[in-house]
Amino acid sequence: MDDERLRSMREEYAAVGLDEAAAGDDPVALFDRWLAQVVDAGVHEPNAMALATATTDGRPSVRLVLLKGTDARGFVFFTNTDSRKGVELAANPVAALAMTWHEVQRQVRVEGPVLRLSAAEDDAYFASRPHGSQLGAAASPQSQVVPGRAWLDERYGDLERAYPAGTEVPRPACWGGYRVVPHVMEFWHGRRGRMHDRLRFTRTGVDAGWRRERLAP
Ligand SMILES: Cc1cc2nc3c(=O)[nH]c(=O)nc-3n(C[C@H](O)[C@H](O)[C@H](O)COP(=O)(O)O)c2cc1C
Repeated sequence: MDDERLRSMREEYAAVGLDEAAAGDDPVALFDRWLAQVVDAGVHEPNAMALATATTDGRPSVRLVLLKGTDARGFVFFTNTDSRKGVELAANPVAALAMTWHEVQRQVRVEGPVLRLSAAEDDAYFASRPHGSQLGAAASPQSQVVPGRAWLDERYGDLERAYPAGTEVPRPACWGGYRVVPHVMEFWHGRRGRMHDRLRFTRTGVDAGWRRERLAP
């Protein structure tokens, strides 16, 4: 998609906004519609999302990860479970996500408890990754201090020799997926004069229903 089209789309979205009728009652369905639209619009890495975790004494940390699955149960990403985020999630299994799609002036926020995926789900996704990514996941003690780049490259090289292209790289025990279960979701849509639209959905706990509220921008 060329820049001019993206720019005009930005203006068009700013005029249209997000009203209650368009949003509907199901935030997961609304998220799916928005994601499909940004994928169609050619937004770069539309599935990149900021993932915030925190220590039990409330010190936050944030980094980008890729959304690898979404359904009514939640938002899935994969990582090293011994990483800083993994350690924080083990001790304090709650998280917040933010996805921002500048080209269409939209942001989605998600908050909720976090569950580890099953070993079968971890295995299935690991097996679907490119061989090089599998080697990288096995070679890298994510978030640990390492002696240097050469040390990392050596580990990668050793694994490449042990598991050449076409062979199966075993999934490291410390690699797997998490699901952020949405308890709160907020949809932000940029509007003129900073009069943005914000609709927040909060799970009511009754029949998997949601309460929808409009927030001031
Ligand atoms: C666009 C983008 C996507 C990323 N996706 C992932 C991912 O899906 N999983 C992951 O472990 N790290 C991913 N990373 C790297 C993380 O941002 C981070 O550096 C790493 O997970 C270590 O974070 P931690 O030390 O806070 O645990 C991504 C980085 C960028 C910039």
